[in-house]
Amino acid sequence: MSSPAPTLIASAAAAQPRWSLDDIDWGSLRPSAVAESETTFYLVAAASFIEATTDLYTKNLIEYFSDDAEITEWLAAHWLPEELQHGRALRRYVELAWPDFDWDGVYRRFLPEFAAQCADDGVEPTRSREMASRCIVEMGTASYYRMLSQLTDDPLLTRLTRQISDDEVNHYKHFYRYLRKYQAREGQRRSGIARALWNRLMMIDGNDTRIAMRHIYRARHPEGSFDERIFRRLRRAARVVIRPHFPHRMCVQMLLRPLDLPRPAQRIARPALEAVARRIVP
Ligand SMILES: [Fe+2]
Ligand SMILES: [Fe+2]
Repeated sequence: MSSPAPTLIASAAAAQPRWSLDDIDWGSLRPSAVAESETTFYLVAAASFIEATTDLYTKNLIEYFSDDAEITEWLAAHWLPEELQHGRALRRYVELAWPDFDWDGVYRRFLPEFAAQCADDGVEPTRSREMASRCIVEMGTASYYRMLSQLTDDPLLTRLTRQISDDEVNHYKHFYRYLRKYQAREGQRRSGIARALWNRLMMIDGNDTRIAMRHIYRARHPEGSFDERIFRRLRRAARVVIRPHFPHRMCVQMLLRPLDLPRPAQRIARPALEAVARRIVP
């Protein structure tokens, strides 16, 4: 398994995330609001798996910026502990809301397949492009958790996902600041930034989700097989639930910002980006 360098782990251990699991009122769960919602279950369980694996794809990123202490220290001391905490918090939520689901057992079957895929993950050819790509990841997660906080009637899930979404927005702001720093240093043109954004957008809703969904589905339906038809059915059902709650405006603003377009060009680009956001992120 990939992992950050030991000195960085030490500084991560000393850092305090902005909130902890002890700050959450776990007793405020309203089981009737979520117990029967298959879509909410898949959305939260898949997110808990992917967040819990953040350390698998951290090593590439830390190595890529190894001579930039400001970035590597922030990644190890703040970003990574916060992402792993998202995984732990969502796991506890899944175990409370759907106690029949064997989180640990399913995660142990999911992890080797997911880890093998992460080993193929590359980085963008320049640092500014890599930071633009990271902005898109954080845009995706910030929007996803904002959507979850708005679609559920469970007060616990609303508060938890709102808190996680705020962390993701904060991560976006850091990656955006580092994007500007390296864009100025490298003289990276807007077309290269747009390319990096596009590359990452094409990866959203891709194999990560599919692997998580397959393992979660198999745990629920041990007799059935998970094929493309099942995946499309689950995704269609999720889209129906998600669509009215997805924060498309926030998503478009976060897409536009790295492009740093002049105002008239923003007006022209906005409808196209909205269409992209609606197509790629439900
Ligand atoms: Fe996260
Ligand atoms: Fe994040």
